[in-house]
This record gives sequence, C-alpha cells and structure tokens, in this order.
Amino acid sequence: MSDLLIDNSKLVETDSTPTRRAFVAAAAAAGLCYAGALAYPIYRYLASPAEMAADQVAVTEVTLKGANAMPAGAALMFKFGSSPAMLIHGADDSWVAFSAVCTHLGCTVQFEPQMNRIHCACHGGVYDPHTGRNVSGPPPRPLKAYKVAVAADSVVVSRA
Ligand code: FES
Repeated sequence: MSDLLIDNSKLVETDSTPTRRAFVAAAAAAGLCYAGALAYPIYRYLASPAEMAADQVAVTEVTLKGANAMPAGAALMFKFGSSPAMLIHGADDSWVAFSAVCTHLGCTVQFEPQMNRIHCACHGGVYDPHTGRNVSGPPPRPLKAYKVAVAADSVVVSRA
C-alpha cells in the first residue's frame, strides 16, 4: 500500500499568474496598437484641411534645381507645399506655373503638350496652358497661377 502514496513534498508549486498577466498585458498592448492604427487615418482625414491650409500659407516659394534646363514644350510636376503644381516651359520659350489642383472637384490636372492643353481626367475639364484659364468642361475658375523666375541653375516658383 505504501507504494501508491505520492510524496507531495517533492511537488513544486508553480504560480501561473505571471503568465496570465503577461498575456493580458500583451493583449492590451495589441489592442492599443490596433486602436491607434484605426484612429490615426481618421485623425489625418479630419485634420488634413486645417494642416493643408496652414501649409499653403507657410510655403511662399519653391526652388526647382536644374529645372531651367527643361526643354521647351515640357512640363514638370512638383509640390508647392502639400499641393501638386506644374511648371510649363512653353514651346514659345515662355515659363508658367500653376497649381495642379482642378478647380472643379480637386483632381490633379496634367499638361498634354500634344493637345496644347491642361487636362483634368476626372470630368474632362480643360485649361489653357499659357494662362491657366478654364476653357471647357466643369471647372468654374482658372488654375491658380504662380510667379516664375528662371535662374542660371534653377527655376524659382513663388506666390503671385
Ligand atoms: S475634378 Fe477636374 S473636371 Fe472635375
């Protein structure tokens, strides 16, 4: 009979509480990361108009290094603050720069030299590439124009 007795003095008591605590802490951390990942895009979406407006006010000039070497008839897309903009070196050797944000619903417009126009693919808006004037389609206003100064090694685009 004594062979069946278990000697309890050799059993080591383990405490499983730290493992559970570690699991709960890891789950809480993962939950916070998940909540942050969900909240950040919402925050950016809601905050972006104010930030973009502040950014637009802050930036007054952009220097485009090497853009002076752009061939006639070419265009360069760049950022003026947080907004897309375009520099056009006209076939007549003129230089103009405009905001590339369509005045209809804000799509980004593109210069199409073969058609001699600035085109918005969203709803077919067309602008004059020399003046930025809205020519056809739904855009209600001309593109915002910038001042252009061509230097020896760059082109400086600034608020008009
Ligand atoms: S957003 Fe450009 S034409 Fe509508």
